[in-house]
Amino acid sequence: MAARAVGLLASLPLCAQRSQVLRPIHRLLSCPRTVAAEIKREEQSSGSVETGSEGRTPKKTFSEVQKERREQAQRTVLIHCPNKISVKKFLKYLSQHGPINNHFFYESFGLYAVVEFCQKESVTSLQNGTRTPSMGTEAAIPFRSRVFNLKTKNPSNPTSEQSRVQCSIHAPPSSKKLLELLCYAESIDDQLNTLLKELQLTEENTKLRYLTCSLIEDIAAAYFLDCTVRPFGSSVNSFGKLGCDLDMFLDLDEIGKFSANKTSGNFLMEFQVKNVPSERMATQKILSVIGECLDHFGPGCVGVQKILNARCPLVRFSHQASGFQCDLTTNNRIALKSSELLYIYGALDSRVRALVFSIRCWARAHSLTSSIPGSWITNFSLTMMVIFFLQRRSPPILPTLDSLKTLADAEDKCVIEGHNCTFVRDLNKIKPSGNTETLELLLKEFFEYFGNFAFNKNSINIRQGREQNKPESSPLHIQNPFETSLNISKNVSQSQLQKFVELARESAWILNQEDKDRPSSSRSQPWGLAALLLPSVVNSASLAKRVRKKPASERIKSLLESIKSSGPENATSTNGKRTVSTQA
Ligand code: CTP
Ligand code: MG
Repeated sequence: MAARAVGLLASLPLCAQRSQVLRPIHRLLSCPRTVAAEIKREEQSSGSVETGSEGRTPKKTFSEVQKERREQAQRTVLIHCPNKISVKKFLKYLSQHGPINNHFFYESFGLYAVVEFCQKESVTSLQNGTRTPSMGTEAAIPFRSRVFNLKTKNPSNPTSEQSRVQCSIHAPPSSKKLLELLCYAESIDDQLNTLLKELQLTEENTKLRYLTCSLIEDIAAAYFLDCTVRPFGSSVNSFGKLGCDLDMFLDLDEIGKFSANKTSGNFLMEFQVKNVPSERMATQKILSVIGECLDHFGPGCVGVQKILNARCPLVRFSHQASGFQCDLTTNNRIALKSSELLYIYGALDSRVRALVFSIRCWARAHSLTSSIPGSWITNFSLTMMVIFFLQRRSPPILPTLDSLKTLADAEDKCVIEGHNCTFVRDLNKIKPSGNTETLELLLKEFFEYFGNFAFNKNSINIRQGREQNKPESSPLHIQNPFETSLNISKNVSQSQLQKFVELARESAWILNQEDKDRPSSSRSQPWGLAALLLPSVVNSASLAKRVRKKPASERIKSLLESIKSSGPENATSTNGKRTVSTQA
């Protein structure tokens, strides 16, 4: 039975195996109590607040971070290397073009090096010293990018210095490894922090994301000089998990702004341009041509699909060299603003990200979310639900969007396509919450809260931080914070919502069965968060009917009885703890 549970676990989304150098797990296992402190320490030492922290050190704004990272990326190149290489010689060779600020290696269809020069000119120098390959029977399109192939002059004569290099990790740990780590944690709080630490984007992965955008920008700039390609969504909002997609926004709005301001005299000069009947059509035409360009000239851009009839037209492709699945949109400035808002919420209190990561992971483990579009709930919606829940605590852990708006000053004012997107952007102006609830309590209460939420009549609204009557009949209504007439979870079906509610109730029940302290000496018994990631035991169409109309505590009681008597198939319930072997 235990073996079966492991089989099911292996199909969890966390299954991407680490092919590269293993992270020092013993570091976590030997001192698990320090995970939260370790996260904080790492954030501080990197000088970054992108990952959020409660520290009282001044925090960078979202646009400061974006600007800094973008500038770094412009000085950076991507080099495909032979599998064995002398790192010392490699760096010396590249230093001919100028000093190197930092570098790292990773594996994705071969060995790659990301090399950040101190100056942008070094990139041009490297490009000038690079040849276009001759392809034998095939013809090469002579496209000069910042993606290179490094060849050794004497491949048949390797030197002793050539060896396998240390690679940074860009995949999440396997589900087995993650479960082990969770079982070894000291407390449920520690489990949530461990999960966050293991799944969050690393510094290198973030760098690679900005670099990929910068490389795509080079291609788009062939048509639209001075355009910008910016990452948005979970790559930058601090809720990204290793392996998440890379959402990009082709920003054409800045083009021409500077020159227009500079003109003086009696005349006004305009570019002659072509007109199309609507903004949407312009977007479609621009994306169509960029899609073609990526397909024909973009090194490593494969599987290019133009999805131009979607509500938000996009070009989807795989960027082989980085391993990212990319979605490129344009005219999507509001989504960038949502990313900034989430970044702020993520940075305000360290409990926010820990809770969001755990809820997302829980949802994925139970197939409530999927990488395929459909009637399931999305990670974005789940994040909104957690934010809303944290706004509802007493005292609130997170402020409402309306209160962030009242803290805004003139410089924060932002109206996009008639939608008011104003909120305070300086994190240091927001007062920390006085709420001291533990993550363990918050996790339980989250499941109880949404296990009993009146989804049939109420809408979730982070702008006001309170339930509102649903303006339309979709099963799940989560108001878009800026385009308030939109429901971000319009796609969610009644059956998917029902499944969410039932699993939330089951999880609340499981957590209520657990001892508050860490379980006994056996480390093979999943407990706390680990128990929640196991396959569900609820056969719930009937269960939901039974518990629907009863008050919360009774519902949990009834659920408990029902689960006890239903004889779970794929897990052994012992005193509220389901067993699983952590052996392969
Ligand atoms: N977005 C939105 N409304 C939606 C869906 C998405 O405004 N109905 C915006 C959000 O800013 C979201 C971004 O588009 O963050 C990217 O969407 P998506 O990739 O679906 O979500 P992510 O937040 O990036 O999460 P994931 O890790 O699942 O990619
Ligand atoms: Mg995304």
